[in-house]
Amino acid sequence: MATLYVMVGISGAGKTTWAKHQLPEAVYIGSDEIRMELFGKELTLKGYRRVHRLMNQRMRACLEQGRDVVVDSVHLSRRARRRVLRDAPPGTRTVAVWIDTGIGQAIRNDSQRKRHVPFFAIALMRPRLVVPSKEEGFQEIRRVHWHENHALGAPAPAGETS
Ligand SMILES: Nc1ncnc2c1ncn2[C@@H]1O[C@H](COP(=O)(O)OP(=O)(O)OP(=O)(O)O)[C@@H](O)[C@H]1O
Ligand SMILES: [Mg+2]
Repeated sequence: MATLYVMVGISGAGKTTWAKHQLPEAVYIGSDEIRMELFGKELTLKGYRRVHRLMNQRMRACLEQGRDVVVDSVHLSRRARRRVLRDAPPGTRTVAVWIDTGIGQAIRNDSQRKRHVPFFAIALMRPRLVVPSKEEGFQEIRRVHWHENHALGAPAPAGETS
């Protein structure tokens, strides 16, 4: 049975880093990449529905082929997560991965990368984040604390094997 991993966490929390580092076998579906494909840039609020419709179509197709999938977006609300879960084929094992990083650390992380999310936008996300729960339909909830995650060290550069 294929597994669907739904990333949850504020911007700069480390979701993309974790997903690519910890789930290298899973098909990675990220909203930034889809936005880039559709609109030529990562940071745009344009076409939210279109972006998510395409993410869900790809997710479903891969899960139907029996491949594990990781869906990477902030997924702060139950509603946002419900929209993902309802498009998963019946029988899919679903896991929420909550990257639980504080606002201060997320802002520091953001400052270390090329594209930046305004610090106030990051700060405003935390109160909107609803902690994922099994009642939403997840079989498993994984909570990743920043200090444990960070202890893993920086991800290996592309192509390097460990
Ligand atoms: N485990 C880690 N170890 C070391 N540095 C990390 C780790 N996770 C994240 N970082 C740093 O934090 C930055 C932001 O992380 P990342 O892009 O994964 O966040 P994100 O949650 O995907 O944010 P967004 O929602 O905006 O896409 C990375 O560019 C990296 O510099
Ligand atoms: Mg990301």
